[in-house]
Amino acid sequence: MSRPQFLTSESLPRTRMRRNRQFDWSRRLVRENTLSVDDLVWPVFVLDGEKRRETVASMPGVERLSIDLLVDAVGEAYELGIPAVELFPYTDENLKTPDGKEAVNPNNLVCRAVRAIKAKYPDLGIYTDIALDPYNSDGHDGLVKDGCVLNDETVEILCQQAINQAMAGCDVVAPSDMMDGRMGAIRDALDAAGFQNVMMMSYAAKYASAFYGPFRDAVGSSGALGKGDKKTYQMDPANTDEAIRETALDIAEGSDMVMVKPGMPYLDIVHRIKEAFGVPVSVYHVSGEYSMMKAAVQNGWLDNDRAVLESLMCFKRAGADVIFTYCAVEAAKLLAK
Ligand code: PBG
Repeated sequence: MSRPQFLTSESLPRTRMRRNRQFDWSRRLVRENTLSVDDLVWPVFVLDGEKRRETVASMPGVERLSIDLLVDAVGEAYELGIPAVELFPYTDENLKTPDGKEAVNPNNLVCRAVRAIKAKYPDLGIYTDIALDPYNSDGHDGLVKDGCVLNDETVEILCQQAINQAMAGCDVVAPSDMMDGRMGAIRDALDAAGFQNVMMMSYAAKYASAFYGPFRDAVGSSGALGKGDKKTYQMDPANTDEAIRETALDIAEGSDMVMVKPGMPYLDIVHRIKEAFGVPVSVYHVSGEYSMMKAAVQNGWLDNDRAVLESLMCFKRAGADVIFTYCAVEAAKLLAK
């Protein structure tokens, strides 16, 4: 090698950042964050009937499963060490009504699924979604009157929905509806019904995002919502101070954990909320993020395993404690290698 011409002996770097990066062992030692199976929650879609599995066209690798098959699938997740699942129902069109009353039916799909899973895997955590969109013929998270999504009337039914799911045996109720005042009202309702130990995770900073499209296909709410949007209750993607106010309210109302959603485009929000409140922060790696990645993988443009693990690690780096991801099972397998 020729003598350095431009880097003279006086200007040679004493601090060389690359030294610590030379070996696998030293990279492991200086690594600042870790991703573990303990960080993962697996969102799953449940369908009526028996021995039924349906692919979700816009979410490669994701299926809706009937309860019998779902119990086996979450059993595999449990064996892999995944702490919890979140259930989303694909509700039959003829059960959808303007008042969304199927949400409070003690024998609805979600309640039956909770009971079936708890009977076989009592130690697997179960989150259930609180919102009316799977049951509402309008495809909205709340009750609609004269084109408006009603707040206080919706909160009343969400309280009943929470009690209904708690009776079925869920561990955490997770309101994703973004109505004002719902966390406090649900806490009071749960406590009055004797469910003081049921946890609450609010979707605190939930944005009106284009990245939920494939999820709405998966739960069959996209048709009802049509060209409508959820901008009068979900947050404007341009805002960040507002996420702090939303989260402060939910914590004050008794939220045990909070969530930021979507995930990867909103890492700044994850970081701010973790810094500001120091409470358990979840992040949702949503359907659209999942589908973008899988579409690129299918085209041979991204390496699946590396893209999955890097995406999830970035959530940890931003400050998330819990990651909701459709990749939970494959990530758990990769992490076990
Ligand atoms: C609705 C709900 C949505 C998601 C979870 N709960 C969609 C919406 O707000 O329209 C999205 C999850 C995802 O995209 O993966 N209550």
